[in-house]
Amino acid sequence: MIELKNVTIEKNDKTILNNVSLEIEKGKNTIIMGPSGAGKSSILKVILGLWMPDEGNVLFEGRDICQMNDNELLELRKNIGMVFQGNALFDSLTVADNILYFLPDKRKYSEAELKKKIDELLSFVNLSGAENLYPEELSGGMKKRVAIARALAFNPKVILFDEPTTGLDPINTASVLELIDKLKVKGSTSVIVTHIIDDAMEIGDKFIVINRGEVADSGNLQKILNSSNSFVNQFFLKRKQLLSERISFGA
Ligand SMILES: Nc1ncnc2c1ncn2[C@@H]1O[C@H](COP(=O)(O)OP(=O)(O)OP(=O)(O)O)[C@@H](O)[C@H]1O
Ligand SMILES: [Mg+2]
Repeated sequence: MIELKNVTIEKNDKTILNNVSLEIEKGKNTIIMGPSGAGKSSILKVILGLWMPDEGNVLFEGRDICQMNDNELLELRKNIGMVFQGNALFDSLTVADNILYFLPDKRKYSEAELKKKIDELLSFVNLSGAENLYPEELSGGMKKRVAIARALAFNPKVILFDEPTTGLDPINTASVLELIDKLKVKGSTSVIVTHIIDDAMEIGDKFIVINRGEVADSGNLQKILNSSNSFVNQFFLKRKQLLSERISFGA
Protein backbone atom coordinates (compact mmCIF):
# COMPACT_ATOMS: atom_id res chain seq x y z
CA MET A 1 0.00 0.00 0.00
CA ILE A 2 2.88 2.37 0.86
CA GLU A 3 6.40 1.77 -0.29
CA LEU A 4 9.64 3.62 0.39
CA LYS A 5 12.30 2.75 -2.15
CA ASN A 6 15.90 3.64 -1.31
CA VAL A 7 14.85 6.85 0.43
CA THR A 8 17.59 9.19 1.61
CA ILE A 9 16.83 12.39 3.53
CA GLU A 10 19.44 14.97 4.36
CA LYS A 11 18.97 18.04 6.55
CA ASN A 12 21.71 20.54 7.34
CA ASP A 13 24.39 18.23 5.88
CA LYS A 14 23.21 15.44 8.19
CA THR A 15 21.89 12.18 6.78
CA ILE A 16 18.64 11.49 8.63
CA LEU A 17 17.47 8.53 6.55
CA ASN A 18 19.96 6.52 4.54
CA ASN A 19 18.76 4.34 1.66
CA VAL A 20 15.59 3.26 3.50
CA SER A 21 13.39 0.72 1.73
CA LEU A 22 10.25 -0.58 3.40
CA GLU A 23 6.69 -1.61 2.67
CA ILE A 24 3.49 -0.94 4.59
CA GLU A 25 0.95 -3.65 3.80
CA LYS A 26 -2.77 -3.01 3.67
CA GLY A 27 -4.81 -4.19 6.66
CA LYS A 28 -1.81 -4.89 8.85
CA ASN A 29 -0.26 -3.25 11.92
CA THR A 30 3.26 -2.27 10.94
CA ILE A 31 5.57 -1.33 13.79
CA ILE A 32 8.51 1.02 13.28
CA MET A 33 10.85 0.67 16.20
CA GLY A 34 14.31 1.75 17.23
CA PRO A 35 16.11 4.00 19.70
CA SER A 36 15.59 7.73 20.20
CA GLY A 37 16.90 9.74 17.27
CA ALA A 38 17.00 6.71 14.94
CA GLY A 39 14.71 8.36 12.36
CA LYS A 40 11.32 6.85 13.20
CA SER A 41 9.30 10.09 13.18
CA SER A 42 11.20 11.11 10.06
CA ILE A 43 9.80 8.09 8.23
CA LEU A 44 6.28 9.25 9.11
CA LYS A 45 7.08 12.71 7.72
CA VAL A 46 8.12 11.07 4.48
CA ILE A 47 4.93 8.97 4.32
CA LEU A 48 2.84 12.13 4.90
CA GLY A 49 4.64 13.87 2.06
CA LEU A 50 5.94 16.56 4.45
CA TRP A 51 9.53 15.64 3.63
CA MET A 52 10.42 14.83 0.04
CA PRO A 53 13.34 12.41 -0.36
CA ASP A 54 16.65 13.74 -1.62
CA GLU A 55 17.04 10.34 -3.26
CA GLY A 56 14.62 7.47 -3.81
CA ASN A 57 10.85 7.21 -4.24
CA VAL A 58 7.72 6.98 -2.13
CA LEU A 59 4.73 5.15 -3.54
CA PHE A 60 1.19 5.40 -2.16
CA GLU A 61 -1.04 2.76 -3.75
CA GLY A 62 1.43 2.62 -6.62
CA ARG A 63 1.54 6.40 -7.22
CA ASP A 64 4.80 8.24 -6.74
CA ILE A 65 4.15 11.04 -4.26
CA CYS A 66 7.38 12.76 -5.29
CA GLN A 67 5.74 13.57 -8.63
CA MET A 68 2.60 15.06 -7.06
CA ASN A 69 1.73 18.76 -7.16
CA ASP A 70 0.44 20.59 -4.07
CA ASN A 71 -3.21 19.79 -4.78
CA GLU A 72 -2.46 16.12 -5.27
CA LEU A 73 -0.48 16.08 -2.03
CA LEU A 74 -3.45 17.62 -0.19
CA GLU A 75 -5.68 14.91 -1.65
CA LEU A 76 -3.14 12.26 -0.62
CA ARG A 77 -3.18 13.51 2.98
CA LYS A 78 -6.95 12.96 3.14
CA ASN A 79 -6.09 9.25 3.05
CA ILE A 80 -3.73 9.45 6.01
CA GLY A 81 -4.66 10.07 9.66
CA MET A 82 -1.91 11.11 12.04
CA VAL A 83 -1.73 10.75 15.81
CA PHE A 84 1.19 12.97 16.77
CA GLN A 85 3.88 12.30 19.34
CA GLY A 86 2.43 14.25 22.31
CA ASN A 87 -1.18 14.54 21.02
CA ALA A 88 -1.05 18.14 19.74
CA LEU A 89 -4.60 18.93 20.87
CA PHE A 90 -5.67 22.58 20.83
CA ASP A 91 -6.11 23.71 24.46
CA SER A 92 -8.62 26.43 23.62
CA LEU A 93 -10.95 24.08 21.73
CA THR A 94 -13.43 21.56 23.12
CA VAL A 95 -13.02 17.86 22.44
CA ALA A 96 -15.65 18.12 19.68
CA ASP A 97 -13.91 21.05 17.97
CA ASN A 98 -10.54 19.32 18.26
CA ILE A 99 -11.98 16.24 16.56
CA LEU A 100 -13.44 18.27 13.70
CA TYR A 101 -10.41 20.54 13.29
CA PHE A 102 -8.71 18.78 10.38
CA LEU A 103 -11.90 17.49 8.74
CA PRO A 104 -11.77 18.67 5.12
CA ASP A 105 -14.86 20.26 3.54
CA LYS A 106 -16.63 20.74 6.89
CA ARG A 107 -19.33 22.85 5.24
CA LYS A 108 -20.48 19.75 3.35
CA TYR A 109 -21.97 18.42 6.58
CA SER A 110 -25.11 19.53 8.43
CA GLU A 111 -24.99 20.25 12.18
CA ALA A 112 -26.79 16.96 12.81
CA GLU A 113 -24.30 15.03 10.65
CA LEU A 114 -21.35 16.57 12.49
CA LYS A 115 -22.91 15.75 15.85
CA LYS A 116 -23.50 12.16 14.73
CA LYS A 117 -19.91 11.90 13.56
CA ILE A 118 -18.60 13.16 16.91
CA ASP A 119 -20.88 10.81 18.84
CA GLU A 120 -19.73 7.83 16.75
CA LEU A 121 -16.04 8.71 17.05
CA LEU A 122 -16.25 9.31 20.81
CA SER A 123 -18.11 6.05 21.26
CA PHE A 124 -15.42 4.24 19.22
CA VAL A 125 -12.67 5.58 21.50
CA ASN A 126 -14.79 4.98 24.65
CA LEU A 127 -15.22 8.66 25.48
CA SER A 128 -18.96 9.12 24.95
CA GLY A 129 -20.19 12.34 26.53
CA ALA A 130 -16.80 14.09 26.54
CA GLU A 131 -17.54 16.39 23.58
CA ASN A 132 -17.79 19.63 25.59
CA LEU A 133 -14.73 19.09 27.78
CA TYR A 134 -11.46 20.96 27.22
CA PRO A 135 -8.10 19.14 26.96
CA GLU A 136 -7.00 20.40 30.42
CA GLU A 137 -9.93 18.46 31.89
CA LEU A 138 -8.71 15.16 30.38
CA SER A 139 -6.18 12.62 31.60
CA GLY A 140 -3.21 11.71 29.40
CA GLY A 141 -4.94 8.57 28.18
CA MET A 142 -8.15 10.43 27.37
CA LYS A 143 -6.19 13.06 25.40
CA LYS A 144 -4.55 10.32 23.41
CA ARG A 145 -7.94 8.82 22.59
CA VAL A 146 -9.26 12.23 21.48
CA ALA A 147 -6.18 12.53 19.23
CA ILE A 148 -7.05 9.11 17.77
CA ALA A 149 -10.68 10.16 17.23
CA ARG A 150 -9.43 13.29 15.43
CA ALA A 151 -7.21 11.18 13.17
CA LEU A 152 -10.19 8.95 12.34
CA ALA A 153 -12.61 11.81 11.60
CA PHE A 154 -12.15 11.69 7.83
CA ASN A 155 -12.04 7.88 7.51
CA PRO A 156 -8.40 7.64 6.45
CA LYS A 157 -7.12 4.50 4.75
CA VAL A 158 -3.95 4.58 6.84
CA ILE A 159 -3.38 5.84 10.38
CA LEU A 160 0.08 6.82 11.55
CA PHE A 161 0.70 6.68 15.31
CA ASP A 162 3.84 8.33 16.69
CA GLU A 163 4.61 6.87 20.14
CA PRO A 164 0.94 6.28 21.01
CA THR A 165 1.59 4.72 24.43
CA THR A 166 4.62 6.65 25.67
CA GLY A 167 3.90 8.20 29.07
CA LEU A 168 0.63 6.31 29.61
CA ASP A 169 -0.08 4.07 32.60
CA PRO A 170 -0.72 0.35 31.94
CA ILE A 171 -4.51 0.71 31.88
CA ASN A 172 -4.48 3.59 29.38
CA THR A 173 -1.78 1.82 27.37
CA ALA A 174 -4.00 -1.24 27.15
CA SER A 175 -6.98 0.82 25.99
CA VAL A 176 -4.93 2.54 23.25
CA LEU A 177 -3.52 -0.80 22.05
CA GLU A 178 -7.05 -2.23 22.06
CA LEU A 179 -8.21 0.67 19.89
CA ILE A 180 -5.43 0.04 17.38
CA ASP A 181 -6.46 -3.61 17.18
CA LYS A 182 -10.15 -2.63 16.86
CA LEU A 183 -9.17 -0.48 13.87
CA LYS A 184 -7.49 -3.46 12.25
CA VAL A 185 -10.65 -5.52 12.63
CA LYS A 186 -12.46 -2.69 10.80
CA GLY A 187 -9.96 -3.10 7.93
CA SER A 188 -7.72 -0.12 8.65
CA THR A 189 -3.99 -0.07 8.05
CA SER A 190 -1.88 1.28 10.91
CA VAL A 191 1.74 2.32 11.16
CA ILE A 192 2.87 2.52 14.78
CA VAL A 193 6.14 4.13 15.80
CA THR A 194 7.28 3.01 19.22
CA HIS A 195 10.35 2.18 21.24
CA ILE A 196 8.29 0.16 23.75
CA ILE A 197 8.99 -3.44 22.78
CA ASP A 198 6.15 -5.01 24.80
CA ASP A 199 3.52 -2.76 23.21
CA ALA A 200 4.94 -3.41 19.77
CA MET A 201 4.86 -7.17 20.26
CA GLU A 202 1.27 -7.05 21.42
CA ILE A 203 -0.20 -5.47 18.29
CA GLY A 204 2.42 -5.81 15.55
CA ASP A 205 2.05 -7.96 12.43
CA LYS A 206 5.23 -6.66 10.86
CA PHE A 207 8.25 -5.02 12.44
CA ILE A 208 10.76 -2.62 10.95
CA VAL A 209 13.75 -1.87 13.15
CA ILE A 210 15.52 1.42 12.47
CA ASN A 211 18.98 2.31 13.68
CA ARG A 212 20.88 5.48 12.76
CA GLY A 213 18.61 6.25 9.85
CA GLU A 214 18.86 2.79 8.31
CA VAL A 215 16.63 -0.30 8.29
CA ALA A 216 18.47 -2.80 10.49
CA ASP A 217 15.97 -5.59 9.76
CA SER A 218 12.27 -6.12 9.04
CA GLY A 219 9.77 -8.94 9.05
CA ASN A 220 7.39 -10.79 11.37
CA LEU A 221 8.13 -11.23 15.07
CA GLN A 222 9.85 -14.58 14.61
CA LYS A 223 12.16 -13.21 11.93
CA ILE A 224 13.05 -10.18 14.05
CA LEU A 225 13.66 -12.23 17.18
CA ASN A 226 16.00 -14.47 15.16
CA SER A 227 17.64 -11.63 13.27
CA SER A 228 21.27 -12.00 12.30
CA ASN A 229 21.68 -8.22 12.59
CA SER A 230 23.72 -7.48 15.71
CA PHE A 231 21.85 -4.25 16.55
CA VAL A 232 18.44 -5.95 16.31
CA ASN A 233 19.74 -8.80 18.43
CA GLN A 234 20.92 -6.41 21.11
CA PHE A 235 17.65 -4.43 20.97
CA PHE A 236 15.57 -7.55 21.62
CA LEU A 237 18.01 -9.46 23.83
CA LYS A 238 16.31 -8.83 27.17
CA ARG A 239 12.87 -9.61 25.74
CA LYS A 240 14.15 -12.80 24.17
CA GLN A 241 15.55 -13.98 27.47
CA LEU A 242 12.24 -13.30 29.23
CA LEU A 243 10.27 -14.97 26.45
CA SER A 244 12.40 -18.08 26.44
CA GLU A 245 12.10 -18.30 30.24
CA ARG A 246 8.33 -18.05 29.92
CA ILE A 247 8.29 -20.72 27.23
CA SER A 248 10.50 -23.05 29.25
CA PHE A 249 8.19 -22.57 32.25
CA GLY A 250 5.30 -23.55 30.00
CA ALA A 251 3.51 -20.24 30.45
N1 LIG B 1 14.11 19.33 10.87
C1 LIG B 1 15.25 18.70 11.18
N2 LIG B 1 16.45 19.21 10.82
C2 LIG B 1 17.59 18.59 11.12
N3 LIG B 1 17.66 17.43 11.80
C3 LIG B 1 16.51 16.87 12.19
C4 LIG B 1 15.25 17.47 11.92
N4 LIG B 1 14.28 16.68 12.44
C5 LIG B 1 14.91 15.64 13.01
N5 LIG B 1 16.24 15.75 12.88
C6 LIG B 1 17.26 14.78 13.36
O1 LIG B 1 17.03 13.55 12.69
C7 LIG B 1 17.30 12.45 13.56
C8 LIG B 1 16.09 11.54 13.57
O2 LIG B 1 15.00 12.21 14.17
P1 LIG B 1 13.59 11.54 14.43
O3 LIG B 1 12.73 12.58 15.06
O4 LIG B 1 13.12 10.91 13.18
O5 LIG B 1 13.98 10.40 15.49
P2 LIG B 1 13.04 9.40 16.27
O6 LIG B 1 13.53 8.03 15.96
O7 LIG B 1 11.62 9.71 16.01
O8 LIG B 1 13.41 9.72 17.80
P3 LIG B 1 12.48 9.79 19.11
O9 LIG B 1 12.31 8.35 19.55
O10 LIG B 1 13.31 10.55 20.09
O11 LIG B 1 11.21 10.46 18.76
C9 LIG B 1 17.65 13.04 14.91
O12 LIG B 1 19.03 13.03 15.02
C10 LIG B 1 17.12 14.45 14.84
O13 LIG B 1 17.92 15.32 15.61
MG1 LIG C 1 10.07 10.47 17.16
